[in-house]
Amino acid sequence: MALRTIRTYKDEILRKKSRKVDVINNRIKILIEDMLDTMYDADGVGLAAPQIGILKRVIVVDIADGAGAVALINPEILYRDGLTIEEEGCLSVPGEVGSVERPKIVRIRALNEAGETVEIEAEDLFARALCHEIDHLDGILFTDKVIESEEK
Ligand code: NI
Repeated sequence: MALRTIRTYKDEILRKKSRKVDVINNRIKILIEDMLDTMYDADGVGLAAPQIGILKRVIVVDIADGAGAVALINPEILYRDGLTIEEEGCLSVPGEVGSVERPKIVRIRALNEAGETVEIEAEDLFARALCHEIDHLDGILFTDKVIESEEK
């Protein structure tokens, strides 16, 4: 187990575009393990690799609904449906929450840790968390999309 340092909003790495993962090797598996440990340690519901300074298209999400964590490599949104506005926050933007519009339902294609193509349909908080983490892979923070924000 290894905890990695979570980068915060002033760090320019959060604004960079992450690269696709070409080969799922042991380093990627260790990265995913460390991302999960770091996310749980920080009480987060999701984490993207650039948040720990790694510009690779890898995300982890666990919305604590009992379904466990998902780790997705090279995730792509295939379709989105509906819209919801809810408050969200980010481990890289401590102390701030804000209302963000996100799709109610998304379908995502990605690779899992075994290198298999998987498709996930998600709604509500799960969809929101996946979209938030995928945004990180393109250098986008929730604060870019916020409708109303407040200090917490
Ligand atoms: Ni975030």
